[in-house]
Amino acid sequence: MLSFISSMSIKSAVQLSIPDIINNDGQPITLSELASALDIHPTKAGFIHRLMCLLVHHGFFNSAKIGHDEEAYDLTPSSRLLKDKIPSLSPFVMSLLDPALITPWHLLGNWFQKEEKMPPFESAHGMSFWAYVNKNSDFNNHFNQAMAIDSGMMNLVVKDCKPVFEGLSSLVDVGGGTGTISKIIIETFPHIKCTVLDLPHVVANLPATENLKFIGGDMFQGIPSADAILLKLMLHCWSDEECLKVLKICRVAIPSNGGKVIITDIVINKDKDDPELTEGKLYFDLLMMILVTGRERSEKDWEKLFLEAGFSHYKITPLFGLRSLIEVFPRKQLSSNESVHLRTSLISMVARNSMQLFVFLPYVYELLK
Ligand SMILES: C[S@@+](CC[C@H](N)C(=O)[O-])C[C@H]1O[C@@H](n2cnc3c(N)ncnc32)[C@H](O)[C@@H]1O
Repeated sequence: MLSFISSMSIKSAVQLSIPDIINNDGQPITLSELASALDIHPTKAGFIHRLMCLLVHHGFFNSAKIGHDEEAYDLTPSSRLLKDKIPSLSPFVMSLLDPALITPWHLLGNWFQKEEKMPPFESAHGMSFWAYVNKNSDFNNHFNQAMAIDSGMMNLVVKDCKPVFEGLSSLVDVGGGTGTISKIIIETFPHIKCTVLDLPHVVANLPATENLKFIGGDMFQGIPSADAILLKLMLHCWSDEECLKVLKICRVAIPSNGGKVIITDIVINKDKDDPELTEGKLYFDLLMMILVTGRERSEKDWEKLFLEAGFSHYKITPLFGLRSLIEVFPRKQLSSNESVHLRTSLISMVARNSMQLFVFLPYVYELLK
């Protein structure tokens, strides 16, 4: 019941830049050194050890006695992620624990009792999450920074999953924010022309380069054509109906032969994932219910969307953390072995004037159309 206290304590540590101060010291920092380095009122210096005590208990900082039995603090792997150097997760803490995102949780019980379709965020603020981001520049900055940092981790994905991007000459990153992923893709595959499509206020004034274009627009109205469409942490923000709309537009925007949609998103897999991972995914599921119209999906849910949107098959590769990489294809790409086998069988059937040919014709048509 009181576990929100640990989240809010982490937030105040980030607000006070405690991870940076400890990091800058390069060695464990005593309580008195910490208190004097912090930008706090002198009357509050005596309270800092209580905050640190809980954060040490949660493994956020280490503590040890040094010198004259004085408490000294050091970073742990968790707090190292919050220090001010890339990839700091501080903007995540600041945006996920922003009062605007906390307030709607107070309306959740009430929301269940009403027929209204809009998410609790919209009831709380009188506008959709995306409109709110547009109107509040501080929140917009934190949110875009948080997403950019998350995208920075795509470095690992792009490098570890090179075959996913090989053979592409163009890619549209739908909802690609400030273009972090596209830049990472271009670094690894300089011949790929990338376009970021996002809402006008997100991409306004972002400088284009030879290989990177920004387009302000609405994915529900249209998506530029490309060999591949990338949707990173996008579809979980939208309902099944909205995802279907977007996926159908993607289907038209990519070539039937060799095109694909590349999704990185959450796939709930309670049977295979360890319980901690499932817990994280379920937290996100509720977060999507509170903030937007989205949800997290199992493989079965994803498959249903892909087939209904006109795709023929998909491949899921689990990545680090909560997310997976899903490649979605308009039709089956045959491996060279499969295509040699299919051709040989067809030739021999034709040669034998085999009746079996008629059984295979619809399949062949599907493959070749
Ligand atoms: C959860 S963020 C994901 C950002 C980015 N793909 C990433 O993972 O770092 C969702 C993004 O979708 C954008 N977005 C929201 N509605 C959109 C729309 N109708 N058309 C295009 N982009 C939209 C938002 O501005 C935001 O950048």
